[in-house]
Amino acid sequence: MNRREFLTSTLAAGATTSTVSAAAAQNGKEIKIIAVSCSPRKGKTTAAALSICLEAAKAVNPSVTTELIELAGRNIGVYDPADPKASQGGFADLIPVLSQPNVAAIVVGTPVYFGNMSSLCKAFLDHCMVFRQQKFALGGKIGGVVAVGAGRNGGQELTLQSVQAALMCQELIVVGDGQPSAHFGATLINTNDDISKDEFGIGTAKNLGRHVAEVALKLAAKVA
Ligand SMILES: Cc1cc2nc3c(=O)[nH]c(=O)nc-3n(C[C@H](O)[C@H](O)[C@H](O)COP(=O)(O)O)c2cc1C
Repeated sequence: MNRREFLTSTLAAGATTSTVSAAAAQNGKEIKIIAVSCSPRKGKTTAAALSICLEAAKAVNPSVTTELIELAGRNIGVYDPADPKASQGGFADLIPVLSQPNVAAIVVGTPVYFGNMSSLCKAFLDHCMVFRQQKFALGGKIGGVVAVGAGRNGGQELTLQSVQAALMCQELIVVGDGQPSAHFGATLINTNDDISKDEFGIGTAKNLGRHVAEVALKLAAKVA
């Protein structure tokens, strides 16, 4: 059974997470989840929100491993279709990392800049054209999105949708935050470079991480 068939069988059949987690673990499969922080500011609120998301993902099952990659300082420039490599910067190192078969899911985190993703996030997603051109090398992986803004209605959801559209162009299987919040992804508010008081937002980050891991485990159990 391939990854697409999983969507119409496993989920429809309503297999429980614990059942499939155990199956995936028994198969000895590592379920690696990579988070990519698209903030130009290293170690700030976008990275913090992604760390919370990854912790929740890891807590789902011991077979889940995680890695946070920060794009800050990688010198990734505007994508030029005429010469993509010229502006790749540190994106080049990420090509083999993100496309590894054991990477089951990719969570993209971005600050909200004027109601949309950061320019660094857009540059990253545009450089991901290389995966589309390599037979959709990211296809079938699970995708999730985290957006951190300074305002309560600062455009977090608009930003999620924008990033999700780009992930869909890579054939990632995009999921939102799981229950009980169960909407479009993680939406957090940064107050003075601190997200720790945003209880609701932290909840969405945790629910997203857990949901991404659960779906990845179900998929791994089915295609093993
Ligand atoms: C150019 C720019 C535009 C911004 N636009 C918005 C916005 O539209 N809505 C919002 O809620 N926050 C906006 N912010 C605030 C950032 O989204 C917020 O500070 C975010 O947490 C930064 O992420 P970081 O801590 O990872 O750098 C903007 C910040 C900058 C620098």
